Amino acid sequence: MTILEVKGLTKAFGGLVAVNDLTFEMEKGEILGIIGPNGAGKTTLFNLVTGFCRPDKGAVFFNGEDITGLRPHEVCKRGLARTFQITQAFPNLTVLDNVRIGAYSHMTSGKEATAEALRILEFVGLWEKSNELASVLPIGHRKTLELARAMATRPELILLDEVVAGLNSKEANAMIENIRVIQKQGVSVLLIEHVMKAIMSLSDRIVVLHYGEKIAEGKPEEISVNEKVIEAYLGEEYVYAKSQ
Ligand SMILES: Nc1ncnc2c1ncn2[C@@H]1O[C@H](COP(=O)(O)OP(=O)(O)O)[C@@H](O)[C@H]1O
Ligand SMILES: [Mg+2]
Repeated sequence: MTILEVKGLTKAFGGLVAVNDLTFEMEKGEILGIIGPNGAGKTTLFNLVTGFCRPDKGAVFFNGEDITGLRPHEVCKRGLARTFQITQAFPNLTVLDNVRIGAYSHMTSGKEATAEALRILEFVGLWEKSNELASVLPIGHRKTLELARAMATRPELILLDEVVAGLNSKEANAMIENIRVIQKQGVSVLLIEHVMKAIMSLSDRIVVLHYGEKIAEGKPEEISVNEKVIEAYLGEEYVYAKSQ
């Protein structure tokens, strides 16, 4: 079953076409990776899907419903959550309160929201930091908090914008494992990532963007040997390192 359908999506900023006539579909339960060089339009795609920016052309369907142009909170209510490449937690709130805000999207009692937030913090490994202010967290914990905030809204589809990039190897492995468990719980995952270990091991399929256009789509093993993708993004070094 298709959970997300992006059809002819186009967005320009002045003369720069950030996303250009982009079409792809995503199956329910799938982890779909999005890769491409800096400036390829990956984050703009997330902004278009989640209502943070309106497309010039094209449409977004979620579970068959046209959600094009809906506002972010309306998109979120339908079961679509995202993280931000530049983390967006409220700095002067505690870790727990940041996650409780997400839980309030589907809960009305404070007690329930607290219990849900604590459960998620335990799952992502941030429970011990519950009472710390978000502003004092190091980068690894900030990214984990982004994930926890998005998970607290109980999404059917979660969009992760570079949650592994910038983490040390131990943190990266923990994040990869968290994403795997999230998928096992039945959540579909759209994953923007530069860390190849993460994208290649997690993705069921990958869509490659270059100057806002889709230049390839396929399974990780197909993408990693695709000439166009190697030229535009992966580079000869990646192919060489893999063959060693
Ligand atoms: N709000 C904006 N205003 C003007 N230009 C933007 C805006 N957002 C993104 N862009 C431009 O659109 C292009 C795609 O950006 P982005 O989607 O952030 O790429 P990626 O996430 O793949 O690195 C870039 O050239 C970027 O400078
Ligand atoms: Mg980006």
